[in-house]
Amino acid sequence: MKVTKITETALRDAHQSLMATRMRTRDMLPIVEELDKIGFFSLEAWGGATFDVSIRYLNEDPWERLRSIKEHLIHTPLQMLIRGQNLVGYKHYPDDIVEKFVEKSYENGVDIFRVFDALNDVRNMKKVIETAKSQGAHVQGTISYTVSPVHTLEGFVKIAKDLEDLECDSVTIKDMAGLIYPADIYKLVKMLKEETDLLISLHSHSTSGMTPISYYTACEAGVDILDTAISPLSWGASQPPTESIVAALKGTPYDTKLDLKLLNNIKKYFGDIKEKYLGLIDPIAENIDTDVLIYQLPGGMLSNLVSQLKEQNALDRYHDVLEEMPRVRKDLGYPPLVTPTSQIVGIQAVMNVLNGERYKIVSNEVKDYIKGLYGRPPGKINPKIAKMIIGNEKPIKSRPADLLKPQYDYYKIEGEKKGIIKKDEDILTLAIYPAIATKFLSGEMEEEELSSKQIVSNDNQFEIPTEYSVEVDGDVFDVKIMPTGYLNIEESQRSPKGDVEGGVSSTMQGMLLKLKVAIGDKVEKGDILAVIEAMKMENDIESEFNGIIENIFVNEGDSINAGDIILVIK
Ligand code: CO
Repeated sequence: MKVTKITETALRDAHQSLMATRMRTRDMLPIVEELDKIGFFSLEAWGGATFDVSIRYLNEDPWERLRSIKEHLIHTPLQMLIRGQNLVGYKHYPDDIVEKFVEKSYENGVDIFRVFDALNDVRNMKKVIETAKSQGAHVQGTISYTVSPVHTLEGFVKIAKDLEDLECDSVTIKDMAGLIYPADIYKLVKMLKEETDLLISLHSHSTSGMTPISYYTACEAGVDILDTAISPLSWGASQPPTESIVAALKGTPYDTKLDLKLLNNIKKYFGDIKEKYLGLIDPIAENIDTDVLIYQLPGGMLSNLVSQLKEQNALDRYHDVLEEMPRVRKDLGYPPLVTPTSQIVGIQAVMNVLNGERYKIVSNEVKDYIKGLYGRPPGKINPKIAKMIIGNEKPIKSRPADLLKPQYDYYKIEGEKKGIIKKDEDILTLAIYPAIATKFLSGEMEEEELSSKQIVSNDNQFEIPTEYSVEVDGDVFDVKIMPTGYLNIEESQRSPKGDVEGGVSSTMQGMLLKLKVAIGDKVEKGDILAVIEAMKMENDIESEFNGIIENIFVNEGDSINAGDIILVIK
């Protein structure tokens, strides 16, 4: 009889999915020794969004968290989620940073590296896999599961075989949208078992409500490991409950052999923790959302979409955007929707609908995607759209990180010059999030108050913060949301609205990131005048005619509303 193993996600995915990744290290440490007694296959406790959130909002050193959890974990392997060449960030880092990051993660306590790439481009996972293997770690490759006309079970098996060739020890089926059907997972696990020698893990989210059934059929097909979250931090956008899955498998050939009484102590502890963080729990994330079965979009993405449309004052276009999203995804060759492709596709769909013309405005991220700078898309990019967006430029064929120069020494020198490097790990923190890390390492950050981020979204009463910091390519911008029609400048200079001859306006609400022209400059049709950052994506504003810049009404860093005239061309 086979014992099904369990990966407990309470300390990473569960709080990332339900409470914006805000759990503090001090709320984790008291329970780690109890968790260690259970006999889990692994404890997922690091990586994903936890690194970013620690330095940005909690004033916590993520490396410190890793070390202190590891100190209390004697029997259970500590697992991290790593975004391939993106590590714990949102872009590709050069190989020297990747190598050093993986080495330091291992040295500080990571036993199992779960490696994924948003496009399932194995080239983007290779460096992490090789480095982690050379350290002696267990490496778990990932199939980012999605449904589309170009994704087949055979295709997923091929990815697993490539990962096996790279000497991965196990492979996980990462069903980030929680949409895998019981019948499909049965087939996929069966095929993986027949065609590879890898341990097979299943990572899903409860979003669709089908997941516990999918877990059971995965067991019938021979799955080795299931991801679950202790019950107070389970369901909705999180994993199925650990205790329920353990109980459900009792007396079957797939028994986990875990002790429900011991699990109960842990449940009580996290019940109290949940109370403490109640204000942070997004009610949408706690729900079962069957829309995922129709739109095949991750639950988190839908709630994100609602808040972004609110920000743009366009909630009435929700259904149009929902229908545009699959079309954009198709145009881009059906990328799985996971960080960062979920945001890239989602925002482009929003812009296509709000601008009344598809791809009239295209984020720089979409341009990079089409140029191949995120890797190889799963399907063919619509050639008409590609031509419209990047013209005759040829997409790169190589691995994106091949174009990146080493950076470790640069950040070492930079950090030392600023006097903010106390240990080698600080150099990596700096290299991954240059601007935020500079503030964090120099002691300028403060811990966010627990009550400061209230999200009340079940009755459409969002409390959107009026100020936030946005990091773009390592630079931090403070964004202020102003009342409609006003800019953060002197009244006399406030930009006019409506029709102004030669006026260039922004089609969306956002922040003026870069102003590329000055008064008196000569511009030609197609020249980039300014870059607007909206919904975390960068968008160029191009000149629609030839002329001379006569007036400019905005400064870099200003908040801009849709329709505001930002400058005038004569
Ligand atoms: Co997940």
